[in-house]
Amino acid sequence: MRLGILTGGGDCPGLNAVIRAVVRSAVTWSGTPGHESVQILGIEDGFDGLVSGKRIRPLGLGDVQGILSRGGTILGTSNRGNPFSYPMTADDGTIELVDVSQRCLDRMAEHEMDGLIVVGGDGTLSIAHELGNRGANVVGVPKTIDNDLASTEVTFGFDTAVNVAVDALDRLKTTAESHDRMMIMEVMGRYAGWIALHAGLAGGAHAILIPEIPFELETLKAHIRRRAGHGANHHLVVVAEGALPVGGQYTYEADISASAGALERLGGVAANLGHALSDLAIETRTLVLGHLQRGGTPTYRDRMLGTTFGTAAFELAVEGRWDRMVCVQGSAIRDVPLGEAVSEQKLVDPDGDTVAAARAVGISFGA
Ligand code: F6P
Repeated sequence: MRLGILTGGGDCPGLNAVIRAVVRSAVTWSGTPGHESVQILGIEDGFDGLVSGKRIRPLGLGDVQGILSRGGTILGTSNRGNPFSYPMTADDGTIELVDVSQRCLDRMAEHEMDGLIVVGGDGTLSIAHELGNRGANVVGVPKTIDNDLASTEVTFGFDTAVNVAVDALDRLKTTAESHDRMMIMEVMGRYAGWIALHAGLAGGAHAILIPEIPFELETLKAHIRRRAGHGANHHLVVVAEGALPVGGQYTYEADISASAGALERLGGVAANLGHALSDLAIETRTLVLGHLQRGGTPTYRDRMLGTTFGTAAFELAVEGRWDRMVCVQGSAIRDVPLGEAVSEQKLVDPDGDTVAAARAVGISFGA
């Protein structure tokens, strides 16, 4: 049996744990009497590598040695190159988006792949599911720091990202209190507020703004004035990149023109907020935590989750249980239909326990 594995979308800590677990599971499985031998083929740079077919190589124990603690992905990744909408240069030099998905199936056949393990977020797993509809045998593994995938309680990468954000808040706090300042920290998460909510709660933020709870500027200002009135000399505001005011818009990076096939990029809400709060007459600094949240060493939780997801995905593949995604449900590793997992986003419940706890300890959501 031959199984391909690729990592797609934005990288995140824990991807290497998955790759390692799949390769090591294959070695253990193949060495067990009565089992057929399974070879793992690593596909580089996400679906780009499968479309071109040029970057596919066998993975053995030596390839995964020492990678458990490494962030990123040894296979590389890409958040462009959707094979169903692939940027190609036309004869007149313009870029056209073309459906080249058949190439993926052809490459799998050429390399005699019986199945493909796809490690990715909603975009990458939607592509995997589509390829499954066209006849490919696929298994999905959910990854994203955003934690916004449905059907799983948690994705790996999230824990590390939140820890980075909490550490940043701890550091911002000491400088904020020394200078009597307000610090506004923008975190990732795309259209979900999970990172902001968890980091804000664990990092002692005084206000948290998330996309799921559009904020009123005046409510936020009143909260900060109230705090100042009670003698608070500093204020920590965590704002998710997808946060928006009631009736307002998302804030995007100015250069979203980008290249064809690229996703729009959120960014800049912290700076806008800083300007909007200037009449509070509190010295304010803003910070975009950015890709620091995605890089570096995975936490123990993300190594564990990556490893258990990897072994579970391998099991699904050898059992021929295709078009499924491994997941966490009730704290146990389970699997669900891939189509179900990519059908909706998992968003923060504004009436849920975590938001209630945050409100109870005096954190404002600006609403
Ligand atoms: O989906 C993961 C994520 O890190 C989002 O939180 C963020 O909006 C986006 O990717 C950033 O993408 P890029 O790496 O293309 O800047």
